[in-house]
Amino acid sequence: MSNDNLVALVTGCSRRQGIGFEVCRQLGEQGCTVILTARDGEKAGQLASTLREARLDITDTESIKTLTDFVARQYGRLDILINNATGSAGSNMAPAASADLDIARQIMEVTLLGTWRMIQAVAPLLDKSNAARIVNVSSSAGLHSDPVLGLTGSRQAAPAYGIAKAALNALTARVAGDFTDTTIKVNAICPGFTATYPGMEKLGAHPVAEGASGIVWAATLDADGPTGGFYRNKELLSW
Ligand SMILES: NC(=O)c1ccc[n+]([C@@H]2O[C@H](COP(=O)([O-])OP(=O)(O)OC[C@H]3O[C@@H](n4cnc5c(N)ncnc54)[C@H](OP(=O)(O)O)[C@@H]3O)[C@@H](O)[C@H]2O)c1
Repeated sequence: MSNDNLVALVTGCSRRQGIGFEVCRQLGEQGCTVILTARDGEKAGQLASTLREARLDITDTESIKTLTDFVARQYGRLDILINNATGSAGSNMAPAASADLDIARQIMEVTLLGTWRMIQAVAPLLDKSNAARIVNVSSSAGLHSDPVLGLTGSRQAAPAYGIAKAALNALTARVAGDFTDTTIKVNAICPGFTATYPGMEKLGAHPVAEGASGIVWAATLDADGPTGGFYRNKELLSW
């Protein structure tokens, strides 16, 4: 599909070096109208310059309603939803058997339920698009098959983070199934190990532009592109 005039909304864009901001930049470069959002509206404003920006906290139904009302009034439809926002465990790496469940609840609230809430809120706007795309930004931490960071890997990520991403993958498959008879495509994307903080390159992380490119690929898939899968570098991953 031609990317000119597509309307895209990206969640969780609070940092210039974050993947969300780079996704916005690449979509803008392709001619999309991009709505960059962050739960701190001031941060979104500082980053947006040539893009539309808005405050959006995906755990807050009022915040979501304000934004979706704006998109409906302004554009009448949404072509691309990128669920990039995620809950973080910070440095809390306790094993699942002793993990802090308040932190786990917060992570699920953002990563799983926030994404789910967003999909529900914009579904009527996606219906008005000719070929809408939903991209859920996930992680190999949510895979059974990743031998390093995966759920049973050798250097597992924080349990709540991986479990929330596994649930996000399940949501991706289920929502894609619900949209089978429509033109809406839904995929999960792992950006890979990405240098979103200074010094991460030295640890083997790839540039942010590279991490974002797979997400932009899934956001701009042609009519014959895949749906319901989990991809990294455009390659299908095994759950
Ligand atoms: N970097 C990597 O190597 C890597 C690898 C695999 C997957 N990923 C995934 O890539 C995505 C982007 O990650 P990143 O590395 O660029 O980190 P990031 O900048 O920390 O992105 C996470 C974003 O989620 C936002 N967020 C948290 N709670 C929110 C809420 N309630 N409502 C709206 N936004 C909320 C954060 O905002 P605040 O700043 O306000 O907290 C932040 O902007 C995430 O889904 C992450 O899991 C990253």
